[in-house]
Amino acid sequence: KKQDMSVEVSEKGEYEHFMLKEIHEQPGLIRNLTQYYFAGEGKESLEKVAAYNPERIYLSACGTAAYAGLVIRDFLEGINRIPSTVELASEFRYKNPILKKGDVGIFVSQSGETADTLAAQSICKKAGVKTMSIVNVDGSTLYRDCDDNLLIRAGVEIGVASTKAFTQQALTGRLMSAAMAGDLKDEGKKVKLTGKFALLAERIDKLLLKSDEIKSVAESIYNKKGFFYTGRGAYFPIALEGALKLKEIAYVHAEGYAAGELKHGPIALIDEEMVNIALVGPELFEKTVSNVHEIKARKGIIVGIGPRGNEELMGLSDFYIPLDFDGLEELSPLYVNVVNQLLAYYMAKFKGTDIDKPRNLAKSVTVE
Ligand code: G6P
Repeated sequence: KKQDMSVEVSEKGEYEHFMLKEIHEQPGLIRNLTQYYFAGEGKESLEKVAAYNPERIYLSACGTAAYAGLVIRDFLEGINRIPSTVELASEFRYKNPILKKGDVGIFVSQSGETADTLAAQSICKKAGVKTMSIVNVDGSTLYRDCDDNLLIRAGVEIGVASTKAFTQQALTGRLMSAAMAGDLKDEGKKVKLTGKFALLAERIDKLLLKSDEIKSVAESIYNKKGFFYTGRGAYFPIALEGALKLKEIAYVHAEGYAAGELKHGPIALIDEEMVNIALVGPELFEKTVSNVHEIKARKGIIVGIGPRGNEELMGLSDFYIPLDFDGLEELSPLYVNVVNQLLAYYMAKFKGTDIDKPRNLAKSVTVE
């Protein structure tokens, strides 16, 4: 037992928790991913996917992996224009899904052992639909059961609250979408995408150096009554994931909401004890800011996460976390997500919860 503990300490290195260590691993993992798929061992698996020409794509997963599925759906629909849906695996498996030959089922998972996700895969397989995983654990049950696999190359993830696996799942999905779009044959496109991944890694590196600013925001808000994470478009899945992280490790009620939908009910909850974490990327900027105005008018506390130097949003926000989105394009939401990871981490730390092993949760849910 004693020895186990010392192993744990050394594996965590300078970090107090695995979660923090795993958050910090992200830039390196992002850089390695393009190398692995464009120039390394992953080439062959991505080339196989390039031959896919699906009429529809069904993504299915649980928890954080399902939210990564939403990000991937946005890539597939936005870039490839392939109709794609995401279903929670626990729902998909009992809904008698409409499956047609020529469709592809994609299963997103860190462990590759989640019971519901495995059941969803098996339903697709029985229906004669091609199945593919976006998975972390090489040789896991999901990996073995699927026709094709794309590894996310996140390394071992120990923190129950998934961080680096989410980022790697979404980015592997981006590479998959590039492959399906025929970009593997175009050197210029591969160089451009590699550059964009490197830029994301660099921005996350810079953000991590400013963790203390996020920590001080966390200190000011962690005791508030409830949290609404809001975003539009590509930031909506990030809002859902941000709220999930906070619930999991800080044990406070948080909801992710489409910014434009808040007025259809939840805005009734807004008062001076409620916090709005407003995720405002460069896309749909004015529309999202107008929703922040609505919350501000009801005395909600605003934590703005948005473009640096934006006076309007900064002025509206009680706390503002400025980001440099230049050049990140469709990867911008993954940059915002790291702010949410740090916010949840520090709020949990101020609350004094067991961050790496939150109550009632398991890293991998292998029974139904
Ligand atoms: C559990 C974990 C979550 C994870 C989900 C799906 O609930 O606590 O962090 O997102 O399972 O796990 P998977 O291994 O399939 O990604």
